[in-house]
Amino acid sequence: MEVPEPGVRTSPDDAGREAGLRRLAMMIARGEPHPAALRAVAGEAARQFAPAAACVVMCRSDGSTALAAESEPGWADRLPIGVTASALKTGRFTAAETGTGYTAATPVEVGGTVWGLVAVGAEQGGPPPDAERRLAEFAELVATAVANERRRAEHSASRARLVAASDESRRRIERDLHDGAQQFVVTAVLRLRSVAEMPSLPPEARAELEDIAAELNGVLDDLRELSRGIHPEVLSKGGLRPALRALARRSSVSVVLDLRLPDRLPEPVEVGAYYLVSEALANATKHANASTVEVAAETSGGTLRVSVHDDGIGGADMGGGSGLTGLKDRIEALGGTFAVESPRGGGTTVRCALPVHATVG
Ligand SMILES: Nc1ncnc2c1ncn2[C@@H]1O[C@H](COP(=O)(O)OP(=O)(O)OP(=O)(O)O)[C@@H](O)[C@H]1O
Ligand SMILES: [Mg+2]
Repeated sequence: MEVPEPGVRTSPDDAGREAGLRRLAMMIARGEPHPAALRAVAGEAARQFAPAAACVVMCRSDGSTALAAESEPGWADRLPIGVTASALKTGRFTAAETGTGYTAATPVEVGGTVWGLVAVGAEQGGPPPDAERRLAEFAELVATAVANERRRAEHSASRARLVAASDESRRRIERDLHDGAQQFVVTAVLRLRSVAEMPSLPPEARAELEDIAAELNGVLDDLRELSRGIHPEVLSKGGLRPALRALARRSSVSVVLDLRLPDRLPEPVEVGAYYLVSEALANATKHANASTVEVAAETSGGTLRVSVHDDGIGGADMGGGSGLTGLKDRIEALGGTFAVESPRGGGTTVRCALPVHATVG
């Protein structure tokens, strides 16, 4: 067996290369974040073409290129422009001698357009005879990683749009209730009361009118409660702080609030945090047998963190209803994280972290 000289990197044999490609493919299929996946591709390409360096370059929309990953810091700066430009322009494998060594590049195509390229090179020697085929395997892996990342981004943008659309329709229903039905009932009550004050009215008729007015006032309360559940007006008008205070006031379990919040946050963030507290309080009341609930909300470093802790029986189960699952979907659609800790007998904590600049994509 040939023993490599110390310090000289040798490329793996066929089986080693296959195993390396399989490892990369699995890593990409697992949904490893994009930069890490591309770094792994560059590292593995360098290892398989050893002694060589490798990099992944992407094309920007303005026609310029940007480094996405490299196996050795600074190597990509020395890439000969001619080789990369030719690979990108022709859409084909390109190799050239550079000094005493070589550079080879293969374009990466995603969705029918050239996304960028994978390049390898060495300061000594020429490319291996099967360089084109082998580099194409790496380009394929990069294409898969990029396509996966795009699908993920499209998926989360569409989730965020769905949440925004449902919020918008809730807001519209709330406004319609407020401006339509509620105003109608308010006016009807005023008219009844003014008729009831007519001196000529028989006392029984007056009593009857007062009764009807009182009942209509009850309807008004119900309507207010209903529209609060749909989309609380105080949230749109005053922001998260007054809206959470209102939730705490109405709760039948005692609530301790610790709020360190700016006056306003982006609307989807305010709505997401509000629903989290509202659902967690409703759960603490319905299921927990709790005596106190602590609600904490603060923003720091561009993140809003909200937690709701009750001292009840614990044992909350995400699969048990639609409340907690719906919250998880909503928070994750905004790019946030959501967690429930609920050991039996140890109370329940529901928490989320939301990027404050969550926007609808
Ligand atoms: N704070 C809590 N303490 C104890 N158990 C809880 C708590 N919160 C939730 N649970 C348990 O977890 C289950 C799931 O909660 P979830 O909010 O998803 O559904 P739900 O409250 O039953 O119904 P929905 O929220 O859809 O009206 C509940 O049915 C309840 O058994
Ligand atoms: Mg619930």
